[in-house]
Amino acid sequence: MNTTVVSDAVVADANTSASPLLVVEDLHTSFSIPRGEVKAVRGVSFELEQGKTLGVVGESGSGKTVLARSIMRLNLGNNVTTTGSAKFRGLSILDQPPKSMRQLWGNEMAMVFQDPMTALNPLVKIGRQVTEHVRHHLGISKKEARSLAVDLLNEVRIPEPESRLDSYPHELSGGMRQRICIAIALACEPTLLFADEPTTALDVTVQHQILNLLNREQETRDMAMVLVTHDLGVVAGRTDETMVMYAGNVVEKTSTHELFNNMQHPYTEALFRSIPKTSERSHTRLTAIAGRPPDLIDPPTGCSFSPRCPYVQPKCREEKPPLIPVNDGSHLSSCWFPVGTEENKAAFRKNVAEGLPQTLVVEEALAGGSSEGSES
Ligand SMILES: Nc1ncnc2c1ncn2[C@@H]1O[C@H](COP(=O)(O)OP(=O)(O)OP(=O)(O)O)[C@@H](O)[C@H]1O
Ligand code: SF4
Ligand SMILES: [Mg+2]
Repeated sequence: MNTTVVSDAVVADANTSASPLLVVEDLHTSFSIPRGEVKAVRGVSFELEQGKTLGVVGESGSGKTVLARSIMRLNLGNNVTTTGSAKFRGLSILDQPPKSMRQLWGNEMAMVFQDPMTALNPLVKIGRQVTEHVRHHLGISKKEARSLAVDLLNEVRIPEPESRLDSYPHELSGGMRQRICIAIALACEPTLLFADEPTTALDVTVQHQILNLLNREQETRDMAMVLVTHDLGVVAGRTDETMVMYAGNVVEKTSTHELFNNMQHPYTEALFRSIPKTSERSHTRLTAIAGRPPDLIDPPTGCSFSPRCPYVQPKCREEKPPLIPVNDGSHLSSCWFPVGTEENKAAFRKNVAEGLPQTLVVEEALAGGSSEGSES
């Protein structure tokens, strides 16, 4: 089983040699709604090499799904505007007609959607959903597709795959449905997989199994993966790089190891603080950050995190901090008062003295022990 000639033709003139598999530059996506323009993704840039994994982490509404769907060209509707550039194997994705995108989906780029129940058709048996997909992309017979579907279900460790193919989605557990979605996404051996919250709403044991499965498949197939999650614990030890998103922007990006050992951005620090210090901490949803994310129709001027940041200073409310290299050149962060610096400490002391409410969370965390993250 391998990618078809069709998609090879689509990427025929692409530069496959030196450049990274995926290059995203200054990507913006907004939705026009009656109240105004929702600026969901506001200038995201990153690169991803073949076989590597990028974690995309942030609270609900930070733009993670819209970013993934923008690159996949899956944000539908005539109220969506996407600008900037996304190049897959050198091919400019945003300029492709729908027909070319259909050739890329499945064969080259695939997505495990956030909600497996909506990704699967509840009225169609699992077997048909898997086989139609592979038949469409690989041009094989019904019988071959059925046998391939059994292999795929085996690969994602679904017991009794033959009989599962005759089940409807509602007859399977959440973990099984998620595995089916992963099997469908992997069916045509994509080069790039977007896994959007692949473990949300699953219990801890199943979460581990699904994440291990994705990592195993990714390594076996030398597939690149973008792993989208609320949970910083999910990316620990599983991704090469991590990109932290806040209000549609990237606020910090570096190797996952460096992020866990030397975070620079106050929002990343707040995410670390929100991981409970218990044995199950790495799989708990992020909830404990003071305040709420901003309105994306009218985001704050200056730094978007300023209304919630314990270190905020007047400059933060006036000027947006650029995403710039810190430490070694590959660690990027956007903050005027980076965590751990003398300026940061002075800003905190000043805010504590002035009784800024968001300093309370940090003071409590400091009283309760270190907030440092550790990569499991
Ligand atoms: N079709 C749409 N029309 C209007 N606004 C939208 C649309 N899709 C997404 N948004 C808005 O874009 C912002 C980013 O949404 P997105 O789904 O990317 O967040 P997310 O980071 O994936 O959150 P979650 O962790 O809850 O999945 C949100 O404010 C959301 O309400
Ligand atoms: S210190 Fe200022 S620039 Fe940095 S995150 Fe806080 S508000 Fe933003
Ligand atoms: Mg999402």
